[in-house]
Amino acid sequence: MEQLVASWYNGRSLPETYVLPLEIRPGKLNVPVSTNIIPVVDLGGHDETAIIQQILEASQEFGFFQVINHGVPSNLLDEAMNVCKEFHAMSAKDKAVQCSNDLNKNCFLYTSSQRYATEKYHFWRDSLTHFCHPLEKQIQFWPEKPTRYRNVVSKYTTEVSKLGSTILGLISKGLGVSPEHFSNGLTENPKMIVNHYPPCPDPTLTLGVPKHRDPVLINILLQEDDLCGLQVFKDEEWIDVEPIPHAFVVNIGYVLQIISNGKLKGAEHRVVTNSNSARTTASFFVSPSDETLIEPAKVLVNTSSPALYRSLPYKDFHSKFLVTSDWKELEKFVRTTSA
Ligand code: OGA
Ligand code: NI
Repeated sequence: MEQLVASWYNGRSLPETYVLPLEIRPGKLNVPVSTNIIPVVDLGGHDETAIIQQILEASQEFGFFQVINHGVPSNLLDEAMNVCKEFHAMSAKDKAVQCSNDLNKNCFLYTSSQRYATEKYHFWRDSLTHFCHPLEKQIQFWPEKPTRYRNVVSKYTTEVSKLGSTILGLISKGLGVSPEHFSNGLTENPKMIVNHYPPCPDPTLTLGVPKHRDPVLINILLQEDDLCGLQVFKDEEWIDVEPIPHAFVVNIGYVLQIISNGKLKGAEHRVVTNSNSARTTASFFVSPSDETLIEPAKVLVNTSSPALYRSLPYKDFHSKFLVTSDWKELEKFVRTTSA
């Protein structure tokens, strides 16, 4: 396996292969950026119409929002975060024994991006990835160490999966799409990604994850209480997504942009590193099964709003996503020729 960053970073200066070209380097960090402007949606409120409106506005303007009073117990969030940190704190040997390094397996561990072998430069991240559904089938592939991993993460993914259905239910109402639209193959294959960004010798020269859109419907992200790292690209500026304890960060992925025929925005974001502390996050990718067709919802397509995207099986979209680092090329691949 390529060497996990966590195995060698300590005491080293930043290797050349992690120094990014000037145009994508974060450069000066700590310059004032707009803070606290990502909308926060209180899901505990009783005015559903108002909640839907806030979610839709945030999804159109930023492609990002945070949710509070979301119903997932705080102690479960703490336990999940702790067990994710414990996983990445294990020895490289233990981690390797617990999962495969084969990207086609149900559970695997990789470093940088899923293109390590072909990428020109690397990124400062180690990630554990596994599928979550159906739980009875998938859990056997998850790490057995830390010993609490399966127990805690199965409770966590069950709860977050319900939250995903709630959020997509609200989005479907807002878009005027049938609520059943998202209860079939489009959300059948959720995936958990446990990201770990060790302390970095020079955060100005490299990134944890470069600018990207998530290849899914939505991502529900758990981040640590006191560490920034996730940034959203809006109006040519990077905006920090400041942690709110026990909140989730939700972002719209490119697949939902396609389904909504461009009404919602698959947000561009990246992850910066920091030199003081390791940062761990857990992404819950709400994603389609391989054979499911992804295409604009029929009710959103008419003569004044023609389909911007063609219809294709999710697996074709995802394979293209994995090999394409150029965003424009991927857009071209999914757009209709007339759009
Ligand atoms: C991702 C992602 C953000 C973070 O997993 O796609 O953007 O802060 N993660 O780890
Ligand atoms: Ni992402």
